[in-house]
Amino acid sequence: MTHEYGFVGSTPHIRHGSNSGQPLTRREGVLKVTGAARYAADCYPEGMLYAVIAESTIARGLVTSLSLGAAKAHAGVVEVMTPENRPPLAADPNVRPNPFMMRLDVLQNNVVRFARQPVAVVIGETFEAATEGAMLLAPRYQAELPRIDLDNAESFVPKVIRVASPPEQGTGDIEAGLAAGATHVDVRYETPDQYHNPMEPHAVVAVWEGDRLSIDMPTQNPAFTRSQLAYMFGLPAENISIRSPLVGGGFGGKGMLTGPTVLGILAARLVNRPVKLVLRRDQMYGPVGHRAATRQRLRLSMDGDGRLTALSHDTLTATSSFDEFIEPAGDASHVLYASPAVSVTHRAVRQDQGTPIFMRAPGEAPGSAALESAIDELAWSRRIDPLDFRLRNYSEVEPLHHMPFSSKELRECYAQGAERFGWSKRPLEPRQMRDDRGFLVGWGMGTATFPAITFQAAARAVLQSDGTGIIEIGSADMGQGSLTALAQIGADSLGLDVEQIEFRAGTSDLPDGGIEGASAHTATAGSAISSAGADAIAKLAALATVDQNSPLFGAGNTGLIARGGRLFRRDDESRSESYAEILARAGTSAVEGNGKCGPNPAAQSYSMHSHGAVFAEVKVDPDLGQIRVTRLVGAFAAGRVINPRMVRSQYYGGMIWGLSFALQEEAVIDRRTGLVVNADLAEYRIPVNADVPSLEAIIVEEHDPHVNALGTKGVGEIGITGTVGAIANAIWHATGVRVRRFPIRIEDIM
Ligand code: MOS
Repeated sequence: MTHEYGFVGSTPHIRHGSNSGQPLTRREGVLKVTGAARYAADCYPEGMLYAVIAESTIARGLVTSLSLGAAKAHAGVVEVMTPENRPPLAADPNVRPNPFMMRLDVLQNNVVRFARQPVAVVIGETFEAATEGAMLLAPRYQAELPRIDLDNAESFVPKVIRVASPPEQGTGDIEAGLAAGATHVDVRYETPDQYHNPMEPHAVVAVWEGDRLSIDMPTQNPAFTRSQLAYMFGLPAENISIRSPLVGGGFGGKGMLTGPTVLGILAARLVNRPVKLVLRRDQMYGPVGHRAATRQRLRLSMDGDGRLTALSHDTLTATSSFDEFIEPAGDASHVLYASPAVSVTHRAVRQDQGTPIFMRAPGEAPGSAALESAIDELAWSRRIDPLDFRLRNYSEVEPLHHMPFSSKELRECYAQGAERFGWSKRPLEPRQMRDDRGFLVGWGMGTATFPAITFQAAARAVLQSDGTGIIEIGSADMGQGSLTALAQIGADSLGLDVEQIEFRAGTSDLPDGGIEGASAHTATAGSAISSAGADAIAKLAALATVDQNSPLFGAGNTGLIARGGRLFRRDDESRSESYAEILARAGTSAVEGNGKCGPNPAAQSYSMHSHGAVFAEVKVDPDLGQIRVTRLVGAFAAGRVINPRMVRSQYYGGMIWGLSFALQEEAVIDRRTGLVVNADLAEYRIPVNADVPSLEAIIVEEHDPHVNALGTKGVGEIGITGTVGAIANAIWHATGVRVRRFPIRIEDIM
């Protein structure tokens, strides 16, 4: 492939890229694997103190006393921050000025609203001193029994605040559709509380200099975090600088400003010295978000030909007692299957837990787990092959709004995945296959889907007189290699090789690259970078085409192509000039381009989603009930692929998360205290290498002219969505037992 920029008049548009499409390794990969990568918690500014949070061991009630004297008597303790001496904030942490802020617990009073809520912050000369000081505080409480019981809930959120989805969506007459079918399924699925467990916990190193604030912290969203902090602290945003060059995993949990970050900054304010605050692993299980449990009822009906007449998906989930985040589990149900009647509802109950938040494939992960299992149940009720059933009910347009899809190569995903997996050899009946050890073998499948959206972002691109370029964008990289992909897009946008550009990112001082989240970042930041590069090239072209001494003189109307550090006349490629020559003759050292991305207006006319099909093989020990996933094949279509290595790695990661969801992850809550009892990586089970089977991810080619200027969709979250159902369906196929509660355990199938 060659890179070309086409110009018609002054409007550039992207043709191809020579950098995009290459399987480059991560830019920071060597740093990471050699241990040289420096994360926020690795920063040690001069004079730094350590802050450690003392957290509540009850979930509801009041803190009646803290042993301040004991903590302060500790030799290494410098100060203890409590509601009494906590420096003021400019904004009420209980008010949420926009849906992308959480209501925060930052020592505003002695009321406890969830377990592990911060009740004080101890600041010490060493981490050990601060930790010991925090233990010495020994809070006393006036405790009440926490309200945590989704299955016997009494108080519902009176008005669902729209975070991700409207509370009710539908089309057609659902009751008539349910009555019209010849076969029905009415089932309830359960998913548990799940907690983000990035390798790197939340951390902040804060340095105040007068009213200027300098911060090292991992965030998915440096610029937005800066504006949130500016709001909380009543500072102009320019006074705050956030560096987030490396993020050790985020998964949605580092997308929003959380209380502990604010507390670390307040602690630095209180003692007027640099302060580091890093959460312990168990402190991640409260104040920084989680995925709430769900109870989902699915009612499906189909006619005698195996076509859906109704699809109804009702979700009950939980939010905190003081904030609103609703896991939109039903969202998958108005995309995938053609049904004349669709109904999707979401309700939430208030519980004495920390506020839930976005977590990898929010909505679609638990929602598709239930939907894809229920679809399997319906297909089996008439002995229809699950893939055949999905093809019979393939949605040619988005069922809810009857909008066309901007692109949808799902048929091809089904075909390529099924072929690779060997699906055609699957017996229809369960319990038909055994391996040579006598283990039961089952095959199942699930459909994957995730929306393709773009947010707002800005970027800057510079062409320099030595022929090299600079790309600047304030984005962070959670670890998936997105900055590598963005550098490829940036190089393409400037008609240079990726080695010829300096790529600057990971700080709030650069143009706002938007949130790295919602599987939207490469498309969002990439579009901004692309348009910035195009702007720089257009400015360079303007210098050449008006210059009588340039071989490109007068080419403004015929168009130019940027490639390999040169501009070529489109109508006569023998006439060209290097960037360096153009800039030298113009007597300028550089040209700068600026670009933006915003929500795509085409989203009003097209439904935009990534799609995929996942096929799973499980083996079950008939005597012990032990379940092993032995094979996963996913085929995904997500538009144009910028870096196939990173894309495949995202699919692998998603499928592994799906395995985790299906068989392992669950936060177990002590109903008396509200504490998650398995708040560590030993007992909050996530897959290790030995749990992960043979994985294959097939990249299905897809051309999307509408989704955005780059034609690329998200790949980060979709891998989870088809996999959970595929594994559950494979377990049914192996054992004949249908389990409707995740994670699926040995005792469920014995
Ligand atoms: Mo995501 S839930 O935006 O990592």
